[in-house]
Amino acid sequence: MRALLVCFALITVTLTAPFAAAQKVELSVDASKAGAKIDRNIFGQFAEHLGHGAYEGIWVGPGSPIPNTRGIRNDVVAALKTIKVPNVRWPGGCFADEYHWRKGVGPQRSETLNPNWGGVIEPNTFGTHEFMDFLDQINAEAYLSVNVGSGTPQEAAEWLEYLTTAQPTALAKERAANGHPAPYRVAFLGIGNESWDCGGNMTADYYLSQLKIYSRFVRNFNPAQQDKQQMLKIAVGPGGGEPRFAEWTEAVMKAYQNRQWSWDINGLSLHSYTVVRWPPAFKSVGFGEAEYSQILKSTLEMEGLISKHSAIMDKYDPQKQVALVVDEWGAWYAPLPGSNPGFLVQQNSQRDAILAALNLNIFARHADRVRMANIAQMINVLQAMILTDKEKMVLTPTYYVYKMYVPFQDATSVPVSFNAGAYTHGDITLPRADAIAAKDKAGKLWLELTNVDPNQPVDIEVNLIGITPKSAAGETLTAPKVDSVNSFEVPNTVVPKRISAKVQGGKLALKLEPKSVTVISVEQ
Ligand code: AHR
Repeated sequence: MRALLVCFALITVTLTAPFAAAQKVELSVDASKAGAKIDRNIFGQFAEHLGHGAYEGIWVGPGSPIPNTRGIRNDVVAALKTIKVPNVRWPGGCFADEYHWRKGVGPQRSETLNPNWGGVIEPNTFGTHEFMDFLDQINAEAYLSVNVGSGTPQEAAEWLEYLTTAQPTALAKERAANGHPAPYRVAFLGIGNESWDCGGNMTADYYLSQLKIYSRFVRNFNPAQQDKQQMLKIAVGPGGGEPRFAEWTEAVMKAYQNRQWSWDINGLSLHSYTVVRWPPAFKSVGFGEAEYSQILKSTLEMEGLISKHSAIMDKYDPQKQVALVVDEWGAWYAPLPGSNPGFLVQQNSQRDAILAALNLNIFARHADRVRMANIAQMINVLQAMILTDKEKMVLTPTYYVYKMYVPFQDATSVPVSFNAGAYTHGDITLPRADAIAAKDKAGKLWLELTNVDPNQPVDIEVNLIGITPKSAAGETLTAPKVDSVNSFEVPNTVVPKRISAKVQGGKLALKLEPKSVTVISVEQ
C-alpha cells in the first residue's frame, strides 16, 4: 500500500514497489500554511587551511598575475557572490586546533607547519585581516573556530578582543596599525572542533570544562553586537550515530540545561560526511549506477542522524534555543589519483548535485532545529563549489545547486505531501522523488523537486492549495551520466537549463529528467 508522505518540519519516507518506475508523482502543496523559516545560514561554507582550499583557492597574493583584489582572486569572489554565501567557517577543521592567530597578522608572517594536512608549510599570509577582507568582498559573515586543542582561553580571548573592540586597547591599536581601525563583526564562534577526536581526544566532561571557560572569557566587544546581533557560540557536538556521540550530545545538552549565568551556547555542531566507510574509497568520477545508489543511500542517513540528535536536544531544550549546526557535511571520496592524499582533492559530479539537494531538503525539513550548516569544503577540497588550477576556475554541479537554492534563503517553509515512489538498483531502494516548498519574503512560492532515478523521468503533478497559479518556471540541473563533471577543459557539461510547468485546472504538471534537481517559482 502506498503511504502518503508529509513533509513539513518532518518527513516520513515510505517506499513503494520498484514497478513504480516512470510513474507519476503527485504533490500537494498547501500555500496557505507556514512552517519554520529556512535560515539562510544552512547554505554556509567551510574554508580550511587544507590543500588548495585557502591558498590558491582564495588567496593568490597581491603580486599574482591572477586577477585579484588585495590578494583575493576576483573570479572566485564573483562566483561566490552569485550564490549569496551567508557565512564561512574558518580556519578549520582540525587545522583550527593548531592555529595561532598571531602568526597571521602584521607585516611579518612566520612560516609554520600544517601537520594535519600533508605536513606542508603554512605561510600564514592568509590570516585574520585577509579572511575578513575576503568575507567583506563576498558579503558573508565570519564563523571563527577557536583553538581549544592546543591554544589557551587567553589566546582566543585576545583574538576576539583584537577583532572586535572599539576601545583604544593595545590590541585595538595593533589592529588599526595593521589596516583596520573599525571593529570587525564576528557573527559565530566555534568553541573547538571534533574535540572527541582530532581536537584533543577529550572526554565530554573534559570538553565541557573547557567549553565553559571559553564561553565565559572569549568575548565579542563590538558595540554593534551587544544587544542585537550578538555573536552565537557553537559547542562541539556529535560526529555520527554511534552511542558515544549520543552520550556526547546528552552531556552537552544536560550541562546547557543546568547552566549558570556565566556561560552559554547557542548552537551544537554536528559533523557527518557521506563516505560509506573509512578510509574513503569511492571514486569521485568514473563510477556507475551501483556507486551512485550506494552513496545516495548513505547520504540519506543524515535524516536519521538529525532526528536522533534533535530528539536528545528536545529533552533538555524543548524551546529549541540551541541550534543544531551541521558545520561539516558532504561527500568524502578517495583522493584523485596523482593528488597529494593530504589535500583531499576530488571531482564533483551530478551525483553530488543530487546529494546536495537531498541534504539541503533534510535541513529545510528540520528548519526549526537546524539553523546553520556548512558544506565541506568551499574550494578545491572535498565536495567543493569551485575548483581552481592556477588561473583556471570551474564551477561544479554542487555550485549550481547552491545557486538554484538561493530563493530558499530565509524563506518560510510550506507543507508538501507526496508519495515519493521508489527507485531500485540491485538491493538498494531509495525514494524516487524528493521535494520542498517555501515562500520568499515577497510571498512568492518556490518548489524544489528532485528526481533521484538516473534512468527514468518522473511526471510531477502539483496540486496547489491556497494559490491560483498562472505560470510556473525555473531551472533544472541534469547531466548525461551519473558521473558527469565540469572540467577545466569542458566546463559546461553540467549547467542548469530553463524548465517550465504546464498549468491546468489550477494544477502544475512537469516532467523531471532522470537524476535531476529542479527549482521553480509559481506566478499567480
Ligand atoms: O573537512 C576535513 C576534516 O574533516 C576537518 O578538518 C575535520 O574537522 C573533519 O574530520
